[in-house]
Amino acid sequence: MTEQLPANGYTDGDVDTNATTERSLESMAAERYSRRQALFRGAGATTMAFMGTALLAACGDDDGENTVAVSAGANAATSAGRVVNLTGSPENGFGGFVTNWAQTSGTTVALTGTGSSVSFIAPGVSAATDLVFTFSATSVTGEVRTATTTVRVSPAVLGFAAVPHSLEDVVKVPAGYSVTVMTRLGDPLAAGVSAYANDGSDGNFAQRIGDHGDALHYFGLSAAGGRDDASSTRGLMVQNHENLNVQYLHPNGPTNVSTGPRPAAEALKEIEAHGVSVSEYVDAGNRKWSYVQNSSFNRRITPNTPMTFHGPAAGSALLVTAYSTNGTAGRGTINNCANGMTPWATNLTCEENWAGYFRRDAADDAKRSARELTALSRYGVTSRTGNYAWSFANSTDSIYTKWNATIIGASAAEDYRNEPNQYGWVVEIDPFDAKSTPRKRTALGRFGHEGAFVRAVNGQKLGVYMGDDSRREYLYKFVSSATYAAADAASTSRLAMGDKYLDAGILYVAKFNADGSGQWLPLVFGSVPATPQYTFADQADILVNPRLAADALGATPMDRPEWTAGNPVTGEIYLTLTNNNAAGRPLNGTDAANPRHYNDPKGTSNTAQYGNPNGHIVRLREDGDNTAALTFKWDIYLFGADAADAGANVNLSGLTADNDFSSPDGAYFSRSTNAAGQFNPVLWIETDDGALTDRTNCMLLAAIPGRVGDGGAKTITNTGSTGATATQATIVGAPATAANLRRFLVGPVECEITGIDTTPDGRTIFVGIQHPGENGTPTAPSSHWPDSQTGAAGATVRPRSAIVAITKDDGGVVAL
Ligand code: FEO
Ligand code: CA
Ligand code: CA
Repeated sequence: MTEQLPANGYTDGDVDTNATTERSLESMAAERYSRRQALFRGAGATTMAFMGTALLAACGDDDGENTVAVSAGANAATSAGRVVNLTGSPENGFGGFVTNWAQTSGTTVALTGTGSSVSFIAPGVSAATDLVFTFSATSVTGEVRTATTTVRVSPAVLGFAAVPHSLEDVVKVPAGYSVTVMTRLGDPLAAGVSAYANDGSDGNFAQRIGDHGDALHYFGLSAAGGRDDASSTRGLMVQNHENLNVQYLHPNGPTNVSTGPRPAAEALKEIEAHGVSVSEYVDAGNRKWSYVQNSSFNRRITPNTPMTFHGPAAGSALLVTAYSTNGTAGRGTINNCANGMTPWATNLTCEENWAGYFRRDAADDAKRSARELTALSRYGVTSRTGNYAWSFANSTDSIYTKWNATIIGASAAEDYRNEPNQYGWVVEIDPFDAKSTPRKRTALGRFGHEGAFVRAVNGQKLGVYMGDDSRREYLYKFVSSATYAAADAASTSRLAMGDKYLDAGILYVAKFNADGSGQWLPLVFGSVPATPQYTFADQADILVNPRLAADALGATPMDRPEWTAGNPVTGEIYLTLTNNNAAGRPLNGTDAANPRHYNDPKGTSNTAQYGNPNGHIVRLREDGDNTAALTFKWDIYLFGADAADAGANVNLSGLTADNDFSSPDGAYFSRSTNAAGQFNPVLWIETDDGALTDRTNCMLLAAIPGRVGDGGAKTITNTGSTGATATQATIVGAPATAANLRRFLVGPVECEITGIDTTPDGRTIFVGIQHPGENGTPTAPSSHWPDSQTGAAGATVRPRSAIVAITKDDGGVVAL
């Protein structure tokens, strides 16, 4: 391992200044060895072999015995993503020596620090890989001695202790990790905007962080203020604001919600608390994160922000409103749930449960055609007031009246009958240009969009995978007409890249076959059959109403499709299916891809929860690994379960108290720019649960999944509420183990864990904590988070959705 050099004494006659001559080589070596062991143990490394030592004369006497050890320390072993400290001796400056570390061989790493102590982060590797480092010491006379050490790096493994179930009002993370609360509901996003009082008195949410922070993404920013995909110290946080804990937004809750009239100021506050925020995040050094209140990049996009329509449905009569009489423009975005990112660094925000915001009076039915009523019913535009009753505000401003979809004018250009058709889209935002107009991409279809994972492979068509989150809805895929050219990722005309790849192509819906194969069914005018209830007029009609087209084609109804995530190594697509009830997934209504019907008893009274209350995660691999494939293979990667209640027919993944979960929602792979996203990438799973909440608050898990087909066929026996049974064949993935699935975080009371991203270096993760205390009241909040994170909070402190930054205390890659 090391070069063994003889003592080579010398003298410069400067004995009086040598303060170390009384120390023996043996004592120094022993001290260094001991220190190295501690350092390596701290980094999770294991000593493999012996310490390498060479001898170099210190400033000493004439007999040449006054030598010091030149040592690079013991060989060591670690795994990808962990911090390794290299400590050589002598220390830099000791006896006038100048010391240095350099890498000699192996995957190149960046050494930080100088002199005798440096460190690096073990790189991602596919198999055990030796990295060799050389430590050199140069005496004042220019004499050089070196020693080497070898660090063996193994592939990434989960490196934290599982977080237990928790019902406490704090974010819990593993030992050795820290939590920093970042942007919270109401935090100001411009200079001069007051701090959030959090007592219901605050207004101006067009310049504050919105409520119910959901999906988020960190876009790296250079020191000069431009796009920098590699920056892990400055970035733009783009976050969706899906909905409201409306009771906390006003001093005593909202007024006149069901009857109106509503004070317009209240309604405006609620409207503006929806949408998307862009806020600048900066690391002051060593991952000390804060946000920049007065950054010129900061932005709020609200339901009032002007937008344009693009793709085949733009200009359709179905999009004509009094605001846009040619159907090409609209205002705002609503119920923004999950997201997607393009290679050209734009953000895709997805409109999910938009239908409930609209009011349709009873008299409207008689004014609508049967086709219109079919479409309105299929999408659930059936409320008589609309969520929060904004159209009942005491104002004639159309920012309020547009939420009334009742036909009241002589034509669609004179009212907002078509306003519901303006939502349910994927919206592209350029986060680097605060003045840019977001673009609604109609080619991707209109439904209850959860997320939009973009798979971009150079030389293939672009693929966008999208779940429609309602019970018995579908998985969709958009395939671009244009072939993806990786060089386009660097374009500075970002929204033009969206025009190129997201406006022309084919929308497909998934059919899961019982044998583990699947098909993508094209939603193309002319090939979609008419049904007794609905005949399509053109392609725009199909894109406005893809649920009806998918029904007609026989797509597979799923147990609430939520996020999609793509494994950056295998290209496999993961789809969370959060749960279903007994009506949506009855005992005799299971299929291979949605195979379970069971009871998960809840609480001390064992309240019955039948259906698939815990959800599962399906994954698929495109045939030929091509985004444009018309067929795929699938299996079920993971089944949620209450490990303490579930039998073998329910706990099909073998979950334990350390990794059991329910209702998977968020799913996101670590970035391929760091060790957590390479070779066997980490998959993050977030829950939005109400079934396992007797045991624990919602959570975040880290997984290292295998591949489609790593398990096998299995037939299970389902049991219904009457005791009747039914068998169902399915295809299950390899079981979960302590090594490949662990609970990483548990959130505060009544929260949902939403949104996740990491810095490019993987050393910080950002996680969304949504709607803590959602069931509380203004006078008796049921959570006081995030104030409760750092100590006891006052009994009337209102909870706030917020983003947390989580870092590993030793600076390593999070989770590894
Ligand atoms: Fe907004 Fe389906 O979660
Ligand atoms: Ca239970
Ligand atoms: Ca969600």
